[in-house]
Amino acid sequence: MNDKIIFSGIQPSGRLNIGNYIGALSQWPKMQAENNCIFCVVDYHAITVKQDPEELRRRLLEITKTYLAAGIDPEKSIIFRQSDISAHTELAWILNCAGARIADLNKMTQFKDKAGKNQESVSVGLYDYPVLMAADILLYGTEIVPVGEDQKQHVELARDIAKRFNNDYGEVFEIPQAIVKTEGARIMSLLDPMKKMSKSDDNQNNCIALLDDIEEARKKIMRAVTDSEDSIYFDVAEKPALSNLLTIYAQLGNREIKRLEKDYKGKGYGEFKKDLADVVVKFLEDFQAKYNSISDEEALKVLERGKEKAEAIANKKLKEVKELIGIK
Ligand code: AMP
Ligand code: TRP
Repeated sequence: MNDKIIFSGIQPSGRLNIGNYIGALSQWPKMQAENNCIFCVVDYHAITVKQDPEELRRRLLEITKTYLAAGIDPEKSIIFRQSDISAHTELAWILNCAGARIADLNKMTQFKDKAGKNQESVSVGLYDYPVLMAADILLYGTEIVPVGEDQKQHVELARDIAKRFNNDYGEVFEIPQAIVKTEGARIMSLLDPMKKMSKSDDNQNNCIALLDDIEEARKKIMRAVTDSEDSIYFDVAEKPALSNLLTIYAQLGNREIKRLEKDYKGKGYGEFKKDLADVVVKFLEDFQAKYNSISDEEALKVLERGKEKAEAIANKKLKEVKELIGIK
């Protein structure tokens, strides 16, 4: 893949975990050498559920530094904050009116999961969130959206919205495509392998945050659930917990699952988990060393520069869209 316009984003709504890293973030730096990459901290998405204002401000910098520590190079890629560019919310409104349909939004499984039984009392923003995401993507002529499995449906919606708008008003939007990793696109909770590892989980023993205390992370791995039979092979249907741990091992330790199955033939869960804990700890130590070397000032500067570059692109697209619908 080269010369593509690539866009992705993460919400500053909690501490990023190894699921976010494996499913989404780890793909990004690999793409930046040969493509035009834009990575956004999507703070307007975060406020679809209530956030503590101070915490939100702090997380903005935390995520920006996480992008940098993961290897995104601001000389090669644009890194910016969603709320710095008003074209995002403006285009979202336009798409709400011209492109997005209630029937489409009603199909969104993430909304159903997040709203649970309280569908009537959650914010309108939570329901409309995929339209803002479509605006993020469509403003930049995005061709490729690298995300974890759970975001695929939202990118499909962005495609549908773009096609409908193009059809009704004239060709203005590129049709984007999601790319999802074949392995590791859905890392599961350490204590319940039926649930995805989530940064908004109340029980932080379910997940390993990128900034977790090292010894705490080791304990979490040792406490992770496994399956009954004490032998090590990959089988998501029969051994979901162990298969999840194998995926984490393979992804963070840079080894193939097949290879791990061979290496651990005849060995038990205890030894496997101890080695996995070492792999996770090594990964976290390297990551945190990079993270800690980046100052808040540096992160703010990156966002400022990113804003300038991204805004020019976004405003140009918004102007075209406004002309097509008869506003200005
Ligand atoms: P979110 O935590 O919803 O802001 O997600 C940020 C990015 O991480 C998105 O691309 C998600 O698809 C991805 N992601 C979130 N949780 C996981 C997980 N448990 N496994 C793999 N990818 C994930
Ligand atoms: N909805 C995404 C998530 O929760 C974050 C997001 C917002 C995004 N806008 C985006 C991802 C545009 C990719 C492209 O993970």
